[in-house]
Amino acid sequence: MSHAEEHEGTRRDFLYYATAGAGAVTAGAAVWPLVNQMNASADVRALASIRVDISGVDAGTQLTVNWQGKPVFIRHRTEEDIALAREVDLGELIDPVDRNENHPGLPATDENRTLDESGEWLVMLGICTHLGCVPIGDGAGDFHGWFCPCHGSHYDTAGRIRKGPAPQNLEVPVASFVDDTTIQLG
Ligand code: FES
Repeated sequence: MSHAEEHEGTRRDFLYYATAGAGAVTAGAAVWPLVNQMNASADVRALASIRVDISGVDAGTQLTVNWQGKPVFIRHRTEEDIALAREVDLGELIDPVDRNENHPGLPATDENRTLDESGEWLVMLGICTHLGCVPIGDGAGDFHGWFCPCHGSHYDTAGRIRKGPAPQNLEVPVASFVDDTTIQLG
């Protein structure tokens, strides 16, 4: 084999592997929409719910997970967060509805928005109800909950809109405890 042929052979091998790699990626990307459309009942249900391990989420911190392309805030509230939310007179609220997919249409009490009775866990879509920005957490804003810097919406420690242009409380999605350290979304 001449040097030129040897070189060509090496190059052909390289091209073969490169093409195979690209082909695999394309096939993978194309499979998902097809599966979703053809077998909606089973596959969409599987994608529609996820389980989140909350064992490492300390009080006073928030875990943000991506669910169905949306940020979801899972906040482990402190005693102070809970007390602040529960002492609010419902007459002061801009949006009096709980906005909780688990039981829609109830009053926006703190108890109607949290996942557990003691109020330690609050799960909400991290999407400002004004124009959809992602609010800042960790006690931000005038009401020590979340603050949306896009146009200045302030949410309290229960995620209820208290000041600014947002019309509704942050939405609580369908969620439940699977066990003490696992939350299922959807
Ligand atoms: S999008 Fe949040 S205040 Fe406008």
